[in-house]
This record gives sequence, C-alpha cells and structure tokens, in this order.
Amino acid sequence: MHPAFASMALPPGCRLIRIADEPEWWRPSDEMCSAVWPEFMLHDPVADRCWHHLNEVWPEFQLVLLEESGTQTRVAAASQAAPLAWTGQDGDLPEGWDCQFERSVAERAADRLPNTLGAIQICVAADRRGRGLSSLMLEAMRRTAVEAGFGALIACVRPTDKVGHPNMPIEQYACWQRADGLPFDPWLRVHVRAGARIVRGSPRSMTISGSVAEWHEWTGLDFPASGPYLVEGALAPVEIDLAADRGIYFDPNVWMVHPLSGADSPADQAPLA
Ligand SMILES: CC(C)(COP(=O)(O)OP(=O)(O)OC[C@H]1O[C@@H](n2cnc3c(N)ncnc32)[C@H](O)[C@@H]1OP(=O)(O)O)[C@@H](O)C(=O)NCCC(=O)NCCS
Repeated sequence: MHPAFASMALPPGCRLIRIADEPEWWRPSDEMCSAVWPEFMLHDPVADRCWHHLNEVWPEFQLVLLEESGTQTRVAAASQAAPLAWTGQDGDLPEGWDCQFERSVAERAADRLPNTLGAIQICVAADRRGRGLSSLMLEAMRRTAVEAGFGALIACVRPTDKVGHPNMPIEQYACWQRADGLPFDPWLRVHVRAGARIVRGSPRSMTISGSVAEWHEWTGLDFPASGPYLVEGALAPVEIDLAADRGIYFDPNVWMVHPLSGADSPADQAPLA
C-alpha cells in the first residue's frame, strides 16, 4: 500500500493503488469508468485530446480501488486528477471542467510548476454504489494532493441528482440546501462533508457537440424539430438545430474548492513558476 493511504480504513478485501505503482490497472479502470457514463458524455473533444496525459504524465494521481474475492480481482472504484497552477483566488478558477483539463496540459507543456490538484472524475462501479466508496476515493485524492505539497484540491463537480432537474439553472441548483444546511445534491454533499466549499455554478463546464445523426446514435432519440430536448443522463437540455445539422450540450457543473493543510490559498503552499 502506498504510504499516503496506509492509515485509511478500506472495506475488507480491498486495496487502493496508484497507476504509478501498478500501471497494468490503467486500462481496466478506464473501462470501468467509461461504462458508467451515458454514451454522449464520451464525446467531449477536450477529454479525447487530453485523456492520455493522465496515465502517461501524471500516473501518481490516478487511483484505483481493487476488490479481491478468491482468485478474482476487479475494479470497484477509480479516480483521476491532473495538477495545475492556481492563485487560490476564485476568479482564477477555470471556466469549467474542459478548461481545467486543458490548462493542466498546457501548463505542463510550458513547464509551469503546479500547486493545486484538479479533480477529473470519481467513478464507482454500478454494483458497488451506496457504500461510501466515493468518500473514500475523494479522501485518497485529497491525500495525493497533500503528499505532492499542494495547497488545494479543486473540483468542477458534476452534481448527480441534477439529472432530475434539467431545467433548473445551475447557479440555483448549486445553492439548493436541505433543512440541515447541507447541499440538496448527494455528490455535492460528499465534497462538503470532506471539507470543500461551493464556489459557483459552471453552466458550460463541458461542451459536447454532434450532428443530428450522431445525437440519434448516442441517445436513440429522434429529433423531428429544432429546439431543446431532454436526454437520459443529461443535466440540462440538448439544443438541436436541424438547419445547421447540429446538437449542442453544455454539461453544467459546480465549482468546489477543498483547502488542504488548513489554508485556502495554494499560493501560500508552493510558489507559482
Ligand atoms: C457519484 C458516485 C461516485 C457516488 O458513489 P457512491 O459510492 O455510490 O456514493 P456514496 O455511497 O459515497 O454516497 C454518496 C451520497 O450519495 C447518496 N447516494 C448513493 N447512491 C445513491 C443513489 N442511487 N441515488 C441517490 N443518492 C445516492 C448517498 O446517500 C450519499 O449521500 P448521503 O450520505 O448524504 O445520504 C457514483 O454514483 C458514480 O460513480 N456515478 C457515476 C459517475 C459520476 O457521476 N461521478 C461523479 C462525477 S465525476
């Protein structure tokens, strides 16, 4: 077990690894993660362009929870993240998930020193959900950031229950609280309980664009007229334009900041190159 995870309580039969230590688990973890998303979510060109950097450049931040039973070992959960430089000011957060990922890649190419970890995703296998594994993966992600000497983990979080409220503006959804003061959304709650604060909604965090035929292929739906359509798994309507033969979807997310080591300013933790 990597030392950063040594004090973590894992479910029986589970092992938490970094791709840096056991690279052979990259492909199986990637396959499990791809399987949890609706097809259209796998057509973000930024993700297509940047994804390979995760295991090639930053394998120490790609984590896998393995579950062993008898002679079988399987991927129960996985998380991906990429480092970047951030001033610690809310205004310096990227526009959304796409911009965050592109910034990590561009800064790496420019040899800029990172001081922050940017979450990419956490996925729990469908038959392993509802057991607190997402909190465990988030804690592991936070620990890798602390180990790297970073002052914060930032996350443009995809709120899972927004799927039931596709027409609500994300700025409003981000502020929606239960009577106990915790966020309405269960995935935002996991981040808040881990120590994060909500910064703002990000209405255009990811952009997915395709021809009308591609949207039909991805969703199985027919689009007889131009206009907004509700699609299974989407957090907002997909806008179809028949004349332009284009469907466009903006995945709305919520910016959250996890201060680490008690500081909210990563600039205090490590200098920006
Ligand atoms: C989001 C995800 C990571 C949560 O994983 P998980 O291990 O099932 O979550 P947990 O067991 O830690 O539960 C987290 C919260 O979600 C709630 N929850 C769990 N399963 C739920 C379900 N099916 N429906 C609604 N809420 C649910 C839990 O009650 C808990 O909230 P609470 O403690 O305040 O009640 C998992 O559902 C997943 O992989 N989804 C697909 C990928 C994704 O959306 N990832 C997040 C964006 S990157």
